[in-house]
Amino acid sequence: MPSMAQGGFRNSTDNLKRKVNFSNHSPRKPHSFARRQEIAQQRKSLPISAVEKRLIEEVRNNNILIIVGETGSGKTTQLPQFLFNAGFCRDGKVIGITQPRRVAAITVAKRVAEECGVELGQKVGYSIRFEDETSSSTRIKYMTDGLLLREALLDPYLSRYSVIIVDEAHERTVHTDVLLALLKKVQYERSKSVSGHVHDDNKKVGSGMTLGNESGGLGSSIIKQCQGRKYPPLKLIVMSASLDACVFSEYFGSAKALHIQGRQFPVDILYTLQAESDYIDAALITIFQIHLEEGPGDVLVFLTGQEEIESVERLVQERVQQLPEGSRKLLTVPIFSSLPSEQQMRVFSPTPAGFRKVILATNIAETSVTIPGIKYVVDPGFVKARSYDPLKGMESLIIVPTSKAQALQRSGRAGREGPGKCFRLYPESEFAKLEDSTKPEIKRCNLSNVILQLKALGIDDIIGFDFLEKPLRAAIVKSLEQLFLLGALTDECKLSDPVGHQMARLPLDPIYSKSLILASQFNCLEEMLITVSMLSVESIFYAPREKLEEARIAMKCFASSDGDHLTLINVYRASEEFLETRKLGLSKDKAEKIMGKWCKENFINYRSLRHARGIYSQIRGHAEQMGLRLSSCGEDKLQFRRCLASSFFLNAALKQPEGTYRALASGQVVQIHPSSVLFQPKPECIIFNELVQTNNKYIRNITKIDYLWLTELAPHYYIMQN
Ligand code: CDP
Ligand code: MG
Repeated sequence: MPSMAQGGFRNSTDNLKRKVNFSNHSPRKPHSFARRQEIAQQRKSLPISAVEKRLIEEVRNNNILIIVGETGSGKTTQLPQFLFNAGFCRDGKVIGITQPRRVAAITVAKRVAEECGVELGQKVGYSIRFEDETSSSTRIKYMTDGLLLREALLDPYLSRYSVIIVDEAHERTVHTDVLLALLKKVQYERSKSVSGHVHDDNKKVGSGMTLGNESGGLGSSIIKQCQGRKYPPLKLIVMSASLDACVFSEYFGSAKALHIQGRQFPVDILYTLQAESDYIDAALITIFQIHLEEGPGDVLVFLTGQEEIESVERLVQERVQQLPEGSRKLLTVPIFSSLPSEQQMRVFSPTPAGFRKVILATNIAETSVTIPGIKYVVDPGFVKARSYDPLKGMESLIIVPTSKAQALQRSGRAGREGPGKCFRLYPESEFAKLEDSTKPEIKRCNLSNVILQLKALGIDDIIGFDFLEKPLRAAIVKSLEQLFLLGALTDECKLSDPVGHQMARLPLDPIYSKSLILASQFNCLEEMLITVSMLSVESIFYAPREKLEEARIAMKCFASSDGDHLTLINVYRASEEFLETRKLGLSKDKAEKIMGKWCKENFINYRSLRHARGIYSQIRGHAEQMGLRLSSCGEDKLQFRRCLASSFFLNAALKQPEGTYRALASGQVVQIHPSSVLFQPKPECIIFNELVQTNNKYIRNITKIDYLWLTELAPHYYIMQN
């Protein structure tokens, strides 16, 4: 195996002249006869098709079922259709399938709609935060795990569903873990409703859980709904790709587990000879090494996030131009969570003859999304993960090595359709040092959001709650304290009225929900809605390595000396203004195109900005429904900054003599990220929104505030501290 560093692509110059545009290749008609036949053939050949009858029988006979199957065996796309055909949607009931990732919910729903020959949003639909593609005729509904949790707030009995499939349970997202606990409870209560038994108090029930007793919560809501109403039992199916079904089976009282045999061809695993100092560079070299030296087949590259993917995409496209004419048939296709949904399906389009496709993906492509045609996997061995320090109460995003289980899943992607190769960009000796599996997210994240939702469901005893795996007690206590400081909880640790209830209704992090509520009092809700939308997407600005200076100059046009929040507002408003002046008489497509051009000229990430615009209209709708007062502070920036201080007082930091900052709540020493407009000159006192940990602890999205505002606007915290 040659060392990765041997490739000859290190010294590229920027000559991005011709852009290979994949979408230029005409797609096949979606419902043509040939396409339908092709789909029918593909479906028949999936491993799950051979066991359809047996599966239906097992679902009929068991209220809880664990299904474990190799990725790509057809669990996600086929099982809901089997159940639909077997009559599980009688009386208008819905089959709900949860996914930890938005992309999976969207792409799978589109695929299944196509397989069923129906329009998306009719019989088959999806619903994710800020995007709903369902209707009253939807019977197979894909959604994120977080969204189903939210639905439980409105319909605690989940009465529309006959079957709920919790997919990708091995991912162990915090939402999956909480959802499993909730579903266990809902299922128990629904089965009671059928047998006519009604709970009337705060007793221990069935599987050892305590019902909440607060009026309006899950416990009491169910009791009220139960009275006089009978529901069919809820069928619960937990699906997972890894072989570790025991943990789920045990949790559900020795529930039956079924294994679906998959197909897997041998995959050659190659390691680098030495450790690579720059894994992006090593990935680039490897991509071209494969392209020039290996036989046909698409390449799947695992990267850690949007920013990395977009930068590798640009670099590959540039370097392709330096190849001899005959070797340039290389396409790049990105896939990550916040990619606009119409672009996500591109990974599934067949590669045009003679071309090689390079898919640049986050860990989405490990198990959630199965992409056909992959023969080569490039695995730098890293993943972006949440990490939480319960003592300091700080959550951060951090790039960490994958676990062994993840590395194996990734290499497995190369062997679905034939023998493949996986290039791990680290030496073999490193593999042995990896953790066996990833720690469940519930053990490494801030729990405020989840606790707020559980409280809203009437589940008050968080420490005693029947979690699949208990979060750290310190983390629960810290999150309760934060919710209390934000005014969401009363002294008795109950949801406060109205603030706590309002916060629980907004589909945002509690700290952002609170900022909107405060903003309506500070007369700057418009500004805060824009801010929260822009903060909800990754990287609004982009600065390609080779054009750093140009990008910096472009950013200055939007920069506000007050900080990043007002800078983001400037970008948003400039884009709106630009559109306003050009939009008249333009078709939607044309408007999008000129917007894309404007973004490119201004080094703005078009995908992110579009996403933010979508989020804005959604949360604005929520704010209006809640009766929050929509107003703008106009030129009164001071008012907006005071509102930021009042909202994010838990994230305030003070400059230290050597130019670093001390975060006041946690005492941590942090640094302003170089991408911030406040990187130079550095203000005395700031608030920030994000902590990113690389070699240093960097804070991002920062605004200058006056130190005295903290004691004035958050006296309950700052006076207490002194
Ligand atoms: O859930 P599981 O990993 O078992 O498999 P699946 O997601 O149901 O995928 C079954 C098959 O459908 C795979 O061969 C995928 O490549 C294919 N598929 C597709 O072609 N397009 C999609 N949008 C989703 C799946
Ligand atoms: Mg699946």
